[in-house]
Amino acid sequence: MLLFSIFGYPVAHSISPRLHNSVINALKLDGCYIRTPIMHAETLMQTFRTLQLEGANVTVPHKESAFAQCDEVRGIAQKIGAVNTLVREGNRIIGYNTDAEGFYEAIQSFGYIRNALILGAGGTAKAIATILKEYAIDVTILNRSASRLAFFETQGFTCKTWETFEEGKYDLIINTTSAGLKDEEYPCDTALLKNIFQNAKYAFDVIYNKPTPFLKLAQAYHLTCKDGKEMLLYQGVLAFNLFFSNHYDLKTIESLMRPVFDL
Ligand SMILES: NC(=O)c1ccc[n+]([C@@H]2O[C@H](COP(=O)([O-])OP(=O)(O)OC[C@H]3O[C@@H](n4cnc5c(N)ncnc54)[C@H](OP(=O)(O)O)[C@@H]3O)[C@@H](O)[C@H]2O)c1
Repeated sequence: MLLFSIFGYPVAHSISPRLHNSVINALKLDGCYIRTPIMHAETLMQTFRTLQLEGANVTVPHKESAFAQCDEVRGIAQKIGAVNTLVREGNRIIGYNTDAEGFYEAIQSFGYIRNALILGAGGTAKAIATILKEYAIDVTILNRSASRLAFFETQGFTCKTWETFEEGKYDLIINTTSAGLKDEEYPCDTALLKNIFQNAKYAFDVIYNKPTPFLKLAQAYHLTCKDGKEMLLYQGVLAFNLFFSNHYDLKTIESLMRPVFDL
């Protein structure tokens, strides 16, 4: 039997087993996708090998540690410095990042985007900034504190803190902070956010299980809005295909994952 897992801490809430098992079952594959809570990042690869996994997804807080521990990192993950998908190739563990492409797929329903403002400077912001740059979309990063901006500065992004930010016009505003996830906070000052929304077209929040204050405010300003559901779905679709050496059609995987996702 082929075994797959989600690695992270906590993982009890993770929807990944439901997404992947639905496709495994529908395609009548001899496999199973489980949850493995991992507290200490240094045990990631040993756990992968001990469980004799074919593949795994990595979530908070281990994506950057996983990147450092892979035998090889492929694709856009090399630039991002974080992986969310591990695939066994013989005795080697290969790392990929499907969050970035998952995000890009999710914004395909938006129209033309010239530039974007990313709120937050964590791992998710790295993935999103990197893929937008690949598609020649101009990116500015706005973060609460300066400490996490170094990565973005070395990659040539315009970087601002709440203190140094001067308003501008952005087509797309993306919340990658956890503000609004377990509280009713905004990712930055509301007066500032209102000004930014006034000149924007699209708003995207990577949070997917609730309407956040950020998205509610964007809706009030009549922006076209999207939460993180489709990003999560597409990163799962792309990861599943990597687990099976790109053997399946992405549309087929998506059609099998989507109904479970909507439950
Ligand atoms: N939809 C999807 O498929 C998907 C995929 C991946 C992640 N996510 C979600 O993305 C979110 C971020 O994950 P991550 O791994 O990037 O986190 P992370 O690396 O911990 O980064 C969090 C960022 O948010 C900022 N922040 C946190 N609380 C804030 C607040 N109250 N106000 C303003 N800024 C705040 C931090 O600023 P400082 O630097 O100042 O601390 C930091 O820049 C999580 O909610 C996660 O669930 C969704």
